Amino acid sequence: MVGESFLSSEQLSEKDIEQIFSRATLFKREFESKQRFDHVVKGEALHQKVIALVFSEPSTRTRLSFQVAASRLGIKTVALDNPSSASITKGETLEDTFRNIAAMLPDLMVVRYNTNFEADAVIRELPCPIINGGIGTAEHPTQALLDAFTILENRKQIKGEKVLIVGDIAHSRVANSNLMLLRRLGAEVAYCSPPQFEPKGDNWKGVRNFGDLNAGMEWATVVMGLRVQKERHQSEGIGFSMAEYREKFRLGGDQLKHFRSDGILLHPGPVIRGIEFSAFVLNDKRCKVIDQVTNGVFVRASLISLVLGLEVLKS
Ligand code: CP
Repeated sequence: MVGESFLSSEQLSEKDIEQIFSRATLFKREFESKQRFDHVVKGEALHQKVIALVFSEPSTRTRLSFQVAASRLGIKTVALDNPSSASITKGETLEDTFRNIAAMLPDLMVVRYNTNFEADAVIRELPCPIINGGIGTAEHPTQALLDAFTILENRKQIKGEKVLIVGDIAHSRVANSNLMLLRRLGAEVAYCSPPQFEPKGDNWKGVRNFGDLNAGMEWATVVMGLRVQKERHQSEGIGFSMAEYREKFRLGGDQLKHFRSDGILLHPGPVIRGIEFSAFVLNDKRCKVIDQVTNGVFVRASLISLVLGLEVLKS
């Protein structure tokens, strides 16, 4: 992985994933006992390394957890995270923005943007490695990594797990990255969504579709809720109201009665309370949404260290 861009879950072999998780586990263990993990990373002058975060769509978890992960490693970050204060407002394209930031010679760039095929081509030609921090409706592979890490931590295995993805699959980059990664690791994936939110990509052909949420909850060992992505819906709307959506697809106390006691509930965030999960569900002990965020720091630190070719003292 040294020096390589990480754009898709599809790129990762089982061995790569094992290496990322092994290092993330080491970082988490060290942090829990010593509140730091930089001491297990070999490398001179890490403070001389710079990661550029270029986010043209909003983000709380991904951007901040890359920044926290880099800071814990002793690596500096610079961020362009508010397009309204960038020269994009003067007419510069996103592709040229990427070219110009890459010309400042950062060691690594993390990018997030809405669907943009020109930008997809340009990020493949830049002189520094690129990490996909969420691209349009295509992929969000670091989210899938931290989701799988959280499943492994709680369920002790991924192979054989039954993962039900619920909600707006059609507009979800998280669902696409998870489908590829979880299947690679031997999990079975199914979904439950209104017809308007059913996935369309070839990868989803043959994936089991539960029309009834309670039936899906009974089948699953892991349930992953997704945000209803209003910003990606056509201006004519989605053909049903949020009240209708909640009625059939929101996880609340009644649906939890159909879920196994040792299962776990995930959501990449942001959670829109009352639409995808009720407050009751968010407080349930099976709900690992906040643990996912914590794990995101260790998984992203692991990935950064591997892409930058840093060695660790023990693993
Ligand atoms: N999960 C996720 O991508 O959250 P943010 O949009 O806040 O980064």
